[in-house]
Amino acid sequence: VPDYKLVPHEGFNLISGIHSPEEVEQIQNWKIRESDIFVVTYPKSGTIWLQQILSLIEVKGDATAINDQLTSERIPWIEVMGNEEKFDSAPSPRIRVTHLQYKFMPLGLKKKKGKVIYVARNPKDVLVSYFHFHKYATMLETLASIKDTFFEKFMEGNVYGNCWFEHIKTWHSHKDEINFLYVTYEDMIKDLGSVVEKISLFLGKTLTPQQVNKVVEHSTFKNMKDNPWANYKMIPSSLLNQQHGTFLRKGTIGDWKNYFTVAQNERFDRLYQQKMKDVPLSFIWD
Ligand code: PPS
Repeated sequence: VPDYKLVPHEGFNLISGIHSPEEVEQIQNWKIRESDIFVVTYPKSGTIWLQQILSLIEVKGDATAINDQLTSERIPWIEVMGNEEKFDSAPSPRIRVTHLQYKFMPLGLKKKKGKVIYVARNPKDVLVSYFHFHKYATMLETLASIKDTFFEKFMEGNVYGNCWFEHIKTWHSHKDEINFLYVTYEDMIKDLGSVVEKISLFLGKTLTPQQVNKVVEHSTFKNMKDNPWANYKMIPSSLLNQQHGTFLRKGTIGDWKNYFTVAQNERFDRLYQQKMKDVPLSFIWD
């Protein structure tokens, strides 16, 4: 197992053994095609869910056409070492995911080439999901408790992904400069069909209502949890030690209530008010 460590690079933590600063620097120069699609998330906001949905939209809901490759291989991370060299020659449409901050992205996006789908989730649930992920993700430090240690780390932005507020605010502030669609995890929980339609429309894909239903069916929490192509069960234990956790863990809104103390919640709300006061976004918290 490599020696994974968070290594700050231009104000953003990379993970040694997984990311290379030199390769991340190159991403800005990537040549973008009109057909490129980037899903951008802060960690634990629904990345794998979008990987599954976008894979299904491409094949109009026909799951048999995609259940031969991991979602994470079909739609890889741009920042993972070694993925750079594969990008330029990859066939269209190139669909990719990233947790990177805006400033690292290909400059071509800013010429309104390619498309970006930003997926956001209420940050209290992100924090809880992320804590659980740290228990079995070998590349991240295992922390004894959410109560003290992980809560503090998240509040300080001392995690992979850095500060949640910074991530969403910066991306959102640039939305008019790029082809940008904003969707939330909570909207997907409440009405996945509508979000699938919205995404299809944004991508210029016409799906029949039956095809939309198929996409929804194969991307429910239950079906993904049981689908080894979409639940990370086949990832080596040297990366995810699933004796200590499950990627599709709970999949709900409001789990933070089971973990936050009253004092932590008040502190979180104060920070949220302060950081988000000029941002025209709102979340469903439970
Ligand atoms: S990562 O590590 O950043 O790629 O993680 P990410 O995929 O962004 O987030 C994982 C959380 O998303 C939940 N998830 C889902 N919820 C509802 N329905 C579906 N289909 C679904 N797929 C993934 C997953 O369960 C993690 O959240 P928690 O709260 O831990 O369950």
